[in-house]
This record gives sequence, structure tokens and C-alpha cells, in this order.
Amino acid sequence: MQGPILVFDSGIGGLSVLSEIRRTLPARDYCYLFDNARLPYGELQEEDLVSGCVALVTEAARQIKASLVVIACNTASTLVLPALRAEMTIPVVGVVPAIKPAAQFSQSGIIGLIATPGTVRRSYTHDLVAKFASHCQVHMFGSSELVVMAEAKMAGQPVNMPLLDDILRPVREAHVDVLVLGCTHFPLLAEEFTEVLGDGVTLLDSGKAIASRVAHLLEGQGEHDSLSPNSMKAWYTTPSISNGLSANLQAYGFGEVCRFDPNS
Ligand code: DGL
Repeated sequence: MQGPILVFDSGIGGLSVLSEIRRTLPARDYCYLFDNARLPYGELQEEDLVSGCVALVTEAARQIKASLVVIACNTASTLVLPALRAEMTIPVVGVVPAIKPAAQFSQSGIIGLIATPGTVRRSYTHDLVAKFASHCQVHMFGSSELVVMAEAKMAGQPVNMPLLDDILRPVREAHVDVLVLGCTHFPLLAEEFTEVLGDGVTLLDSGKAIASRVAHLLEGQGEHDSLSPNSMKAWYTTPSISNGLSANLQAYGFGEVCRFDPNS
């Protein structure tokens, strides 16, 4: 039997990636670790982000004997992958904003990237644009408010549409035909984004690409025994979570939802 796949994010955003991985590898065991005590990551100092993620992810992977780690967070992936890979012997997969497919897909050559303020600032992101979209006009938008809105939605609260309309106004005014969702929280608001931006804006994220990368890396390992149910565990880092979030995580398929204990 192969160890579980550890999927990591600051909050519930990584579920947009986990959903794609589960679609590809439905019978594997999964552990979803989210560092909601330090959310939003887009506002953290770089050194704190790196040291905190490395400590958490290496310990969680050790405890569950993970076979592979997915950093399902663009903000963390722009910084922590080298440090994490130096500490771990299992594969570590990161998320990259879908700039390359967006540049290939766009008809108008005007594309947008909406991500956290951290991701929009990083040279990692600017290098991606220079490498794959230098022939396009690329507009970048940073927002942590959208991260909080996606969290609220997952906790069962209605999405504040007038506020969303306000946040997305600069995107509308830039007349992009493709918008890269460069934060894993944002696909969870995709319906609402389309309601505000209209069908003329294609939304792109990296979930499917990550899922095929994971499947490729685990090829030949064999799946879980399909006669027994696969295990789905969700670990958070705050002392507790709301009843709404807990209920939605259970509805998503997590049989176990509890606080991560780094000393266990
Ligand atoms: N989901 C994250 C990302 O993909 C980070 C959100 C945050 O905590 O700021 O960037």
C-alpha cells in the first residue's frame, strides 16, 4: 500500500486542486493540511512563509508517511519549493499560475492574472510572464480580500456580490479575454467571477495540469485496494474551525477533520 498524498494550502483554496487530483486518482488516500492560523499567505513576510511551511509540511508528511506532497498554493509555491525539496526525499509538486496556456489561448493578446499580492509581486511570476507571454499585454491584479471571500463561501456564508463586483472592476476595465486564476482559492468563486465578468472572459487555473503531473509521478505505484474506502483526512492549524466549515469539509468527503498536532 502506498502512503497518502499530502495536499497543502493556507486555507480551503487547495481543495480546487485536490478535486482535480481526486478525479484522476479517485482511490488514493489523501490528507489535506491547511495553515489557516496564518492565512492569508499573500500578506506574510517571505522568511516567515518559508520557515513555517517547511516545518509544517515536513512534519505532516512524516506523520502520515506521505508518498508525495502537493503545495496547492501559488503564494507558497513561488518561494518554498527549493527549501522543501532540500528537506524531503518524496516528490514535491508546486502550482504555477497558468500564464503559458493563457498566452496561447488568448485571441486578443490581452490577458489578466489575478492572484494574491505576494504572488503578483514575486519575480517568479514576472519571470513566467517574460518567458511565456512577452507577446501579450499582461495585467496583474492582487487581492487578499478574495481569499477571505472564498473562505467565507466554504464556511457556508453567501458571497458578497456588490463587493466582488467592486474588486473585479479593474479586471473588467482592462478588457482581457483570458483571466488566469493564480490563487487556488479563486476557482472556488469561478461561478461568481463569471457572473460579474460575463462569458467573454475565459477563466484558467492550473488544477488539471497539477493532477496530471501527480498521476505521472505516481505512475506504476498502483491504487488503493478498491474494496476498502479510501481515507480522507483534513488537518487545520487554528485551535478550532466554524461549524459551517466543518460541515462542508465533511460533505466534501473528509472522514476525519481535526487540528494538526505537530508533536504527535
Ligand atoms: N491559496 C493560496 C494561493 O494559491 C493563498 C491564499 C492566501 O493565503 O493568501 O496563492
